[in-house]
Amino acid sequence: MLFEISTSLVMGGLVGYSYLKKSGLSDADKIQRICLNCGLTVKEEDDLKTIQLFRKQRHEWGTEYVYRIPLGLSFNDFEKKINHLRDGLNNKRSAFEIKDLKQINFHENVIRQIKAIIRNRKHLQKDIELSYDGMLHIRVLSNPLPVNLPFQNEMLGKCIDWEVPLGQTRYGFIHHDMERGHITLAGATRKGKTVFLKLLITTLTHQNPENTKLTLIDLKGGLAFSRFKDAKQVETVATDLDSALVALTQVKKEMDEMKGWFDKNGCEDIKEAGIDTRHFIVVDEAAQISPNIITGKEEKEKARKCEEALSEIARIGAGLGYRLIYCSQYPTADVMNKQIKQNCDTVITYKLRDAIASRVVLDESGAESLPVPGRAIYKTPDGVQIVQTPFIDNETIEKIIKPNIIIKANKEETSFEKREGEKGGSHSFKLEEM
Ligand SMILES: Nc1ncnc2c1ncn2[C@@H]1O[C@H](COP(=O)(O)OP(=O)(O)OP(=O)(O)O)[C@@H](O)[C@H]1O
Ligand SMILES: [Mg+2]
Repeated sequence: MLFEISTSLVMGGLVGYSYLKKSGLSDADKIQRICLNCGLTVKEEDDLKTIQLFRKQRHEWGTEYVYRIPLGLSFNDFEKKINHLRDGLNNKRSAFEIKDLKQINFHENVIRQIKAIIRNRKHLQKDIELSYDGMLHIRVLSNPLPVNLPFQNEMLGKCIDWEVPLGQTRYGFIHHDMERGHITLAGATRKGKTVFLKLLITTLTHQNPENTKLTLIDLKGGLAFSRFKDAKQVETVATDLDSALVALTQVKKEMDEMKGWFDKNGCEDIKEAGIDTRHFIVVDEAAQISPNIITGKEEKEKARKCEEALSEIARIGAGLGYRLIYCSQYPTADVMNKQIKQNCDTVITYKLRDAIASRVVLDESGAESLPVPGRAIYKTPDGVQIVQTPFIDNETIEKIIKPNIIIKANKEETSFEKREGEKGGSHSFKLEEM
């Protein structure tokens, strides 16, 4: 039985291989053929004109083809056919190639290996990007994205200042600079939001232990963030609506005081003030504190106050050194307060339930088709990228944050008062120094 399967596989592979050898279409040939077959042509007298290859350049990430397009066609015509181009470039005559078959270990479970090859082929596909600058640029990105990217300590080593590791794109490993401002994080259940938040918190405490402050709000039981509660950078881990309201009211009060101080001293923003501290407010599952979702008069009122504080942080906090990371599983218009959404320049979204949810978060569809946990769309004013974010386990997190774990004093006094009293605190020192 095993022998039969392996023989037929080898034969199938050989047939596929010889076909490809015979047909031998390069990507450039395929692009030309797809454009012809999709009607990306114009008729001039008796001539049928289509794109003309002007330049081809190999890069680490793949190949860029530059074309002249015939008069009468627009870039938009090509954009509309992007799926035809992508599918055509990934078109295979068989589920296997010789190189896949060579990897099979016939001493182990062959069926399982074949299934894995088929599953992985879907993820190893090429992607394409189009742009236009008077010429049509088609970038064929041939580096596969990993299906899983385990966290490695070296990822932290490559972060500068307030950067956090974001993950692997088709172009290479990228970081996100937290100085960019607030972030919206979205994704359906079990797609990687909390893992990413934990990676972010771990990185910040490790990279900037003296200048990071964290207010963590997790109303889903608070288990995910509880491991950080004794880290010296953590002001609060709020696990219910009441403690969330106390924490956010405190942040808002601090922020208002800071703003008053800035106004008095004629500082425009935190950089100009020369203050190194940054305060991150992380909300895991915003729906749990959304007044449009919560029922009950009293609870609704508390949620409304939470939302008011969050909107204020989103609106004026960035310049004052406050960074909101606002996360939601249900990014409907009800949960995504407009003011918060408008002030979050960066959007990171894992797979969403449907295209409607994707449009709420990203203003475009696409997040509904992300294939695996950890695969996200990263959108900033600079553009959109697909990224596989690193998976970090709790054991690794605990090892990294260990040097920051302290026995905490009674938290009765408010943190702002405490800092003013604490001459040694970096933040208060900075304020006094100014
Ligand atoms: N970056 C990743 N790479 C690979 N797998 C991941 C990644 N992130 C998460 N996962 C897998 O998905 C599971 C759920 O992740 P996580 O708890 O972050 O989901 P979530 O989006 O926060 O879900 P929920 O909305 O239900 O809280 C993890 O236990 C892990 O198995
Ligand atoms: Mg979660």
